[in-house]
Amino acid sequence: MRIGTIEVETPVLLAPMAAVTDLPFRTIVEDFGVGLTITEFLSADAIQHGDNKTTDKMTASLGGRKFGVQIFGRTDDAMIQAAKLAVSIGASLVDINMGCPAKRVVAGACGSALMREPELAQHLVRIVDEAVGPDIFVSVKHRAGWDSSDLNAPEFACAMVEAGAKMITVHGRTRKQGFTGSSSNEIIRRVREEVPAHIPVVGNGDVTSVQGFLRMREETGCDAVMIGRGALGNPWLFRSIKAVHEGKDDPGLPTVLERYEVFRKHISLIIELKQGAKLVHEVRKAAAWYAKGYRGCNSLRQRIWKLESAEQVLAEVSAYFEDLMSSGSAAA
Ligand SMILES: Cc1cc2nc3c(=O)[nH]c(=O)nc-3n(C[C@H](O)[C@H](O)[C@H](O)COP(=O)(O)O)c2cc1C
Repeated sequence: MRIGTIEVETPVLLAPMAAVTDLPFRTIVEDFGVGLTITEFLSADAIQHGDNKTTDKMTASLGGRKFGVQIFGRTDDAMIQAAKLAVSIGASLVDINMGCPAKRVVAGACGSALMREPELAQHLVRIVDEAVGPDIFVSVKHRAGWDSSDLNAPEFACAMVEAGAKMITVHGRTRKQGFTGSSSNEIIRRVREEVPAHIPVVGNGDVTSVQGFLRMREETGCDAVMIGRGALGNPWLFRSIKAVHEGKDDPGLPTVLERYEVFRKHISLIIELKQGAKLVHEVRKAAAWYAKGYRGCNSLRQRIWKLESAEQVLAEVSAYFEDLMSSGSAAA
């Protein structure tokens, strides 16, 4: 798949997820063969006001890998400044969030609220496109529509493309659904049908397996699939999708040892790349993802939530995995 001149080898993208898809997380899934990662959404207003907590989250992928930055907002100056900052750190893609259903985002008439203001949304795409220059590409991620009576994703996507978007991602739920119910492949199919063929359409929503990836591509004709929740503690999903896409055998699920080793790698990236009081929280979160589904994972989660340093959590989780491996069965 191509976004402008960006070549995406494997047609699977990591979904932006706030407080999840930080640099350590993105690095791990990149190691496992994801096609492209995008930062979590970053408030253009916060960037404009010099909020360090927000700018610190705008991080370039390691090793010169291509990446996107996602921003949200609705005012010209803030969006232009945020987009230029993304370019200055080496982003190849600036994605504009027009899908977030969260009350605090919609209250500011940003995120999915922009689906009800297509002209302003087009204007934002135009000014960001102009700000980033000809070598960097603008994309838009949006939902099926506001609610089931207003499924305007196909027209909306075409309007964004007309304004300059070089890739469209559609999450097949409405704003009203939030994360409830299920994502509709039908609306993604309609978007793919209506958007000009040279612009990639990425389908998103509820894909957690290789079969789900193949089904979404087949049912919608989308050019690539974006995966969010299915990637938590499961970077192997990208390895499997890459292999199957290349016509090879699916290498399948990891062993307990592999899972433990990747957990340790993830933690060492967190310790290397992130500082501050939240470090222990980040380590606890990652531990819970990697242990999920194994015997005793719930009680492990309770134990580590009481520990106060990253080192203590690491020791507890290491003992947990070693116990699983020595007992020969990890089944819950
Ligand atoms: C914890 C969490 C944080 C999210 N943050 C963002 C975000 O920053 N930007 C965005 O466009 N979507 C965000 N999303 C939505 C996902 O990108 C994705 O559209 C949604 O989860 C559906 O895909 P999935 O079923 O593969 O998870 C978030 C979702 C979750 C669960």
